Amino acid sequence: MEEQLILLKQRALHDLAESQSLDELNELRIKFLGKKGELTQILKGLTLLSPDERPAIGKLANEIKEEIEREFSRKNFDIKQQLKTKKMEEEWIDVTIPSKVVIGHKHPLTLILDEIREIFVGLGYEVAEGPEIELDYYNFEALNTPKDHPARDIQDTFYITDEILLRTQTSPVQIRTMEKRKPPLKIIAPGRVYRSDAVDATHSPMFHQVEGLTIGEHITMGDLKGTLEAFAREMFGKDRKARFRPHYFPFTEPSAEMDISCIACQGEGCRICKFTGWLEILGCGMVHPNVLENVGYDPEKVNGFAFGLGIERIAMLKYGINDMRLFYENNLRFLEQF
Ligand code: DAH
Repeated sequence: MEEQLILLKQRALHDLAESQSLDELNELRIKFLGKKGELTQILKGLTLLSPDERPAIGKLANEIKEEIEREFSRKNFDIKQQLKTKKMEEEWIDVTIPSKVVIGHKHPLTLILDEIREIFVGLGYEVAEGPEIELDYYNFEALNTPKDHPARDIQDTFYITDEILLRTQTSPVQIRTMEKRKPPLKIIAPGRVYRSDAVDATHSPMFHQVEGLTIGEHITMGDLKGTLEAFAREMFGKDRKARFRPHYFPFTEPSAEMDISCIACQGEGCRICKFTGWLEILGCGMVHPNVLENVGYDPEKVNGFAFGLGIERIAMLKYGINDMRLFYENNLRFLEQF
């Protein structure tokens, strides 16, 4: 029996040393040490031994069992370690390889909007938003532009139903903000606007505007001028001159357009300013009393000014771009310049 045990040990240790996987290891464990395994089979023979012989053989059997078990644990650990190392090698990434990733940057329209926002936030304005799919009421009616008003020219507006449309201007955000809040307020509202224009160098069915609105007590045209001149100087340089020409908008009275001295020729006259020396950059005016009444404000107590500008136009002037379509074509050779 002693010989059998020693042979068993040798075979077990040999097989263990050869085994390559956890599965194999498991099979060997069952084969040698399992309930019906070889060791158990040999130990059944203990009953045939004399009582004198039994303790020594029993002891030997235990020692052999322990030795085999120790070997199992060691081998188990080794195989797991090998698997781990292999996995690490397979998943190894060289983080030092130089990459060819080109870092993205902001679109020119976003850059201009960022600049405009910075300037007005610096002047104490908050940023407001409103929906692009708008009610006729907010886009026109509440802005003192009733159904039969010529400024509504049906051809310019994308209607979805009789009462629902794609906003043609950011001005409806004025109404939505005033409805929700009490005066005083100073907001700008940037966003997309839509008009059914054919695409060309200066027209697009979708473009961007920034609306501005100041409401308080005793606001004057002087406040409007001071604010917008400060904006023009920040945006286009300290030497920029501004002038205000009378104009008409339904929701302001009086209304004006603001021009800045041409940034290309400094007012001398060139192709960009069509030899006038001036560039029109925005519309503005004192908020019409009807508009204030429409949102439940008392025009006897509060008043204010509003303005609206086109982001594309400002970007074209500032960057010297002559075709609006470039903003939407995603041509990297164009975009990479900013
Ligand atoms: N909503 C006008 C447009 O799209 C621009 C405008 C003009 C906005 C005067 C104003 C304003 O707030 O006071 O042409």
